[in-house]
Amino acid sequence: MAHISASVYTSHVPAIGAALDLGKSHEPYWQKVFTGYEFSKEWFKKNTPDVIFLVYNDHANAFSLEMIPTFAIGCAAEFMPADEGWGPRPVPKVIGHPELAAHIAHSVIQDDFDLTIVNKMDVDHGLTVPLSLMCGQPQAWPCAVIPFAVNVVQYPVPSGRRCYNLGKAIRKAVESYDEPLNVQIWGTGGMSHQLQGPRAGLINKEFDQAFLDRLIADPDGLATMPHIDYVREAGSEGIELVMWLIARGAMKDSGLKVVHRFYHVPASNTAVGHLILENPS
Ligand code: DHB
Ligand code: FE
Repeated sequence: MAHISASVYTSHVPAIGAALDLGKSHEPYWQKVFTGYEFSKEWFKKNTPDVIFLVYNDHANAFSLEMIPTFAIGCAAEFMPADEGWGPRPVPKVIGHPELAAHIAHSVIQDDFDLTIVNKMDVDHGLTVPLSLMCGQPQAWPCAVIPFAVNVVQYPVPSGRRCYNLGKAIRKAVESYDEPLNVQIWGTGGMSHQLQGPRAGLINKEFDQAFLDRLIADPDGLATMPHIDYVREAGSEGIELVMWLIARGAMKDSGLKVVHRFYHVPASNTAVGHLILENPS
């Protein structure tokens, strides 16, 4: 059977992708960010899974305001990079895993979560920046990736509780797939940031650190936090953090190993947070 071996959590600040793509990663400003991922890249080389189930949010690149799925699972064989701002990043195309994606869609929908099945979509910085942070700049991404897009852009957004329970359903789905695949689940976006309005630039270090503590040790309690608290405490884009609860819900309840933890302020307008958790074997 397939199993989930580890989860990775990371911010997706688009300027990080631009720093890499434009050769600026050695500048002192960016060095402070990339230093926090040096361990992670080594860890990932030693722990490359067969498939990454990558929970992220689209920023009106794949889905316009004309159609906004709350949860969308990418079932295609491949996904091309696209982006606003700096434009599509010069990174490899993403190779999917249609069979596992279809199995997860079936299992999770039968478990009462309404997923949108997507057979063609582009992927933006929400997905490609985490891949770059963990894998560097390879010619091809080292494993298959199932993109799982969550709406945290247009209200109403899903609650933390629903995301956490969805993670549990994803775990059950993976563990019932009849092939011994090593699967990682990544939760991306966040941490505190607000990109517009009078509070633009808001960063709340205390909230972010408490979120990391509770994600590790008290995910059940954290999952009850209402969405308005994310917005009030972590800024309008801080709501991206609900996606981390999907990845945490897919992990075992206890016995997790904290392999790496990193926090840095700021990168662009955003606090950067990063965690790697391994399941007990
Ligand atoms: C920034 C952060 C984001 O999450 C995003 O999607 C766009 C911009 C920023 O910090 O600049
Ligand atoms: Fe974002």
